[in-house]
Amino acid sequence: MQNRSAKFIFFSGKGGVGKTSMASATAVYYADQGNKTLIVTTDPASNLADVFGQEIGHKITKISGIENLWAMEIDADKATAEYKENALEPLRELFPEEMLKVFEEQLNSPCTEEMAAFDKFIEFMHNPEFDVVIFDTAPTGHTLRLLELPADWSRHIEASKEGSGQTCMGPVTMLEESKAKYDEAIKLMKDQSRTRFVFVVQPEATPIAETKRSATELEEKIGIRGTELIINGILPENECIDPFFKKRYEMQMKYVEQIRNEIPLPTKLMYLRERDLRGIAILREVAQELHQEVEAEAVAQGD
Ligand SMILES: Nc1ncnc2c1ncn2[C@@H]1O[C@H](COP(=O)(O)OP(=O)(O)O)[C@@H](O)[C@H]1O
Ligand SMILES: [Mg+2]
Repeated sequence: MQNRSAKFIFFSGKGGVGKTSMASATAVYYADQGNKTLIVTTDPASNLADVFGQEIGHKITKISGIENLWAMEIDADKATAEYKENALEPLRELFPEEMLKVFEEQLNSPCTEEMAAFDKFIEFMHNPEFDVVIFDTAPTGHTLRLLELPADWSRHIEASKEGSGQTCMGPVTMLEESKAKYDEAIKLMKDQSRTRFVFVVQPEATPIAETKRSATELEEKIGIRGTELIINGILPENECIDPFFKKRYEMQMKYVEQIRNEIPLPTKLMYLRERDLRGIAILREVAQELHQEVEAEAVAQGD
């Protein structure tokens, strides 16, 4: 069903470090290259609509002013309602009303919400329409939890089959099909030729600590390795002529050094610009800068 060569790129990091900006610039870059591109945000406090200057919401929406680009902001409540409906739909013809009420009752649990969020998430990994799907994720903890779900679920379903036959969402038989889907999603997320996992960080102590922690957790708990790191918000050296900014620039360079030593991932630097990253034009500039860094690195590595 899925597009066999589709690429998935996850952006992760602490709140406010530039995830949405870097994810959006990357989306613009791939769209400009002629790839059908979708950017999805799972952040409840999403600002994708501001970045692209148009309403988006809980549906795949064409971005105007650029070819090949679509966006969606996942709404957790709507995702849950859709998930319940999809689960109950096939049962409606088979069971009497009272039974359906029982099933519906069983679906009113926190597990359902978690499952629904993840279900929406992987729906895009199986959508054959897009060449590139970019996930602008919520701040780190939330995303890790979301990514742990399929692994947890896969285990939970397995264990229930051998035990009571019940899961916190009803009979295990209802979920068998999902297990295959989750296993497939985990496999895809671990496949570095298909999925890139980008951490965005700022050259400051707290975001560095958080990124280190989440990179470790991601690898240890889920078996997913980060593929690259963007250090965003570097002050342009030429502008740092007075002592205050010079000091800050030097401080940033120390943190850049620390990041390079402590987080062993290919790193790109992104400069702080004089204004917010909103609109296609500036995102194109940022994308160009990101890409040039990649090329420079490739040349340096001799490939
Ligand atoms: N390199 C940069 N130069 C200028 N402004 C930036 C840069 N990176 C991010 N910003 C701005 O900082 C704010 C936070 O960035 P955002 O991408 O929304 O972060 P996150 O999604 O991680 O919360 C936004 O207003 C964005 O436009
Ligand atoms: Mg954001």
